Amino acid sequence: MAQGLKVLNAVLPQDVKLETKEYDFGARRYHASGETLTDADLADLKQHDAILLGAIGDPSVPSGVLERGFLLKLRFAFDHHVNLRPSRLLPGVATPLAGQPEIDFVVVREGTEGPYTGNGGTIRKGTPHEVATEVSVNTAFGVERVVRDAFARAQARPRKKLTLVHKNNVLAFAGHLWTNVFNKVAEEFPEVTTDYIHVDAATIYLVTDPARFDVIVTDNLFGDIITDLAAAVSGGIGVAASGNINPSREFPSMFEPVHGSAPDIAGQGKADPTATVLSVALLLRHLGYDNEAIRVEEAVSADLGGRGETPRTTDEIGDALAVRAAG
Ligand code: IPM
Ligand code: MN
Repeated sequence: MAQGLKVLNAVLPQDVKLETKEYDFGARRYHASGETLTDADLADLKQHDAILLGAIGDPSVPSGVLERGFLLKLRFAFDHHVNLRPSRLLPGVATPLAGQPEIDFVVVREGTEGPYTGNGGTIRKGTPHEVATEVSVNTAFGVERVVRDAFARAQARPRKKLTLVHKNNVLAFAGHLWTNVFNKVAEEFPEVTTDYIHVDAATIYLVTDPARFDVIVTDNLFGDIITDLAAAVSGGIGVAASGNINPSREFPSMFEPVHGSAPDIAGQGKADPTATVLSVALLLRHLGYDNEAIRVEEAVSADLGGRGETPRTTDEIGDALAVRAAG
């Protein structure tokens, strides 16, 4: 986080006054107060233009507490329905794939619906006849707004291609809604080439032919899964950035690395801050600082391309990126 802020400060124009406020939402606070994210926190956060979130998660906190009590609560409270996850294989970055395929696509993952809504239940709990349901909620409103956002993003890119990823051969109800909405919105974007792939097949293509993707739109859970795969093939989650966006700007959008907190190396100064720095680039672009965003991305690209064998500290990488981004 310190490196992200360092780069942000280095790249902003002189006349832009950056005001930051730091919040402690991690495991420490949870242990001290039992709180994850209160209404007062949300009211306070709401006054900001954007949120830069450090990786959360700690083995001392039961699984799911911070995920649901903080991360998902924030995404839902601020209606972050566009979960933006770009994948670019930068020069010099290792991929487990054969050769050095062209990878430059962005996944627009729906962020506020699907099975993430916590709609479900258990009956006959603890018995051999336990039945658990987890309902995937898909609304016409929610699907349409994220699909339209994805079309607009595809339209703005050189290749202008949008792929819907779902599983409409099995998930008949949600699949029908997604496919219908997708086809309807497509009429508004005649320049965008469209296609459809089932999510299982998409995992094959992400490995065998990732160059076929430009923009992908998909639901919350499929998007969660395929973006980890997308990150793995394009340099690993150490370089994967994401934006949790509310395009209306009614609430602050939130930018975070896709990776977790790596508690095993906490405090050793060897975590790679690249994914956080790339999240800063997404934040800049969201707030209209396109040139600054490009400079940060180019700094990361040059840094990754020029990395030698000698490992650098978190701070050293941050310094190098800040110097490059400042130009
Ligand atoms: C992510 C994470 C979260 C998600 C978890 C931590 C709730 O995996 O941001 O991809 O599933 O969305
Ligand atoms: Mn995930």
